Amino acid sequence: MIQKILNRKILSKEEIITLLRAQDRNDIQAIYTKADQVRKKYCGDEVHLRGIIEFSNYCEQNCLYCGLRKFNTSLTRYRMTEEEILQTARTIYEAGIKTIVLQSGEDFDFSGEDITQIIKSIKKEFDIAITLSLGERDFAEYKIWREAGADRYLLKHETANPKLYSTYHLGQKLYDRVEHLHYLKSLGYQIGSGNLIGLPNQSIEDIADDIILCRDLDVDMASFSPFIPSPMTPYQNQEQADVDYVLKVIAVARIVLKNVHIPATTALATIDSNGREKGLMAGANVIMPNFTPSTYRNHYAIYPNKKVVENPMPSLLNTLFIAGRKIAEGQGHSLKNI
Ligand code: 5AD
Ligand code: SF4
Repeated sequence: MIQKILNRKILSKEEIITLLRAQDRNDIQAIYTKADQVRKKYCGDEVHLRGIIEFSNYCEQNCLYCGLRKFNTSLTRYRMTEEEILQTARTIYEAGIKTIVLQSGEDFDFSGEDITQIIKSIKKEFDIAITLSLGERDFAEYKIWREAGADRYLLKHETANPKLYSTYHLGQKLYDRVEHLHYLKSLGYQIGSGNLIGLPNQSIEDIADDIILCRDLDVDMASFSPFIPSPMTPYQNQEQADVDYVLKVIAVARIVLKNVHIPATTALATIDSNGREKGLMAGANVIMPNFTPSTYRNHYAIYPNKKVVENPMPSLLNTLFIAGRKIAEGQGHSLKNI
């Protein structure tokens, strides 16, 4: 049964659910073996590194699961200056990393022009790809940033279940989030989306829909990451996602989505000390090391005990060695013809 599904080119929702439900040891092994074959065929053995700068932890949103939510008044808030951001970009570039991810909460104190200026300064000084991860912004801003040189935009859909989406995001609509992703793609951004796994009331069917939404959106990157309960949020007493389940989702997503970038996320490394290695062996081909200066890093507390390494490169090389993989040479653009 499982083997028959694994041999199919395009999987139906029912088939995806069957894979996600697999419990038998041999079946699960077959899923991992297939995911590894698909990863090797479409991505090779190269792992792309994306250096993250979390430049502001201010956020106008109140997502029920997130420690940066506006109503969390116990968090010390910070904004990095343009100079600090450029300095950090230099550290990333000098580490040999070829993509910078500029990440923040939804912080409108950084105006469209501020972000444009930062993009231009980075692009002028370094031959490096830029991913923006700033939440939902004005459509006009997306356009200006693209023209200023931004290459990619990461905007997770979080859950493809419209009811749960509105629950987690205080009445906001999944439809609107998807519209933003369509628009970003139409501007020529390489787009990234993805989910959180293990949120309250989420079902296996919902996870299958997350994978299918990524397929329908034709995303270039897709992140499947565990929910970790965060103090001072409405979901602080909920259960953390199960590592093995997250790894299974990554494997099934690789089998279904094929030529997309999939990260072994920091959240996965946080709930399992070998999370990155396990993620790479379950179908992932991207790692996103954190370069936020140590004075600020602890305040970017989306969830607790976030795995951070002071000087990430040696430990990353060790991870790649364990997983039998190598650092990618290029900027790691989309695996699709864009
Ligand atoms: N656990 C794991 N990931 C989280 N995020 C937000 N809160 C949590 C949490 N409690 C993720 C969301 C968002 C990104 C900024 O952080 O998926 O896209
Ligand atoms: Fe803000 Fe993003 Fe956290 Fe939501 S998930 S509260 S938008 S930082």
